[in-house]
Amino acid sequence: MLDKEFKVSIPCSRVKLAVEHVANRINSDYTGKEVIFVAILNGSFMFVAELMRKIKLTCRISFVKVASYEGDTSGGIVRELIGLKEDLNGKHVILLEDIVDTGFTLDHLMRQIRTNYSPESIAVASLLFKPQSYRKSIPVNYVGFEVPNDFVVGWGLDYNGYGRNLEDICIMC
Ligand code: XMP
Ligand code: MG
Repeated sequence: MLDKEFKVSIPCSRVKLAVEHVANRINSDYTGKEVIFVAILNGSFMFVAELMRKIKLTCRISFVKVASYEGDTSGGIVRELIGLKEDLNGKHVILLEDIVDTGFTLDHLMRQIRTNYSPESIAVASLLFKPQSYRKSIPVNYVGFEVPNDFVVGWGLDYNGYGRNLEDICIMC
């Protein structure tokens, strides 16, 4: 794709099972509670679509859009493109990410939410997590897969905008 080679790392069937497992854990941890999911665009859209079909709770979903990556490296500066419009006061909030890498994006959103609202609780669910690259201390409560520090695409994740449609999670060779 473009100037880089990618190979399948996690096949689609395993990704779907992992997302179902995350949904089951959320369903049991939040039984009887109402949840507002906040999905971080663009990359999370496929994870979110798969996850939400398996969530059995009373819930709503809202979307925010931020960007921190240029090509295959994290910029560290988080630009906000679509802001949060929902009132999160007193709510059980679960942030949905495609991948938590350095954690800058998550940290930025967490600070913003805590500055503007007083939610009852905040948790994080991410399809992928790169523990070796993580530089923050916010717990990532629900993780589909931990991945090494390589660049991945597919399942919503992109390389310069391409590859979001790949049905397997693929890794840069
Ligand atoms: P940070 O470093 O803020 O990164 O935790 C979070 C955002 O950066 C993107 N990201 C990636 N996108 N392959 C991608 O396609 C990757 O390996 C990768 N690592 C980070 C992603 O948008 C994530 O929300
Ligand atoms: Mg993202």
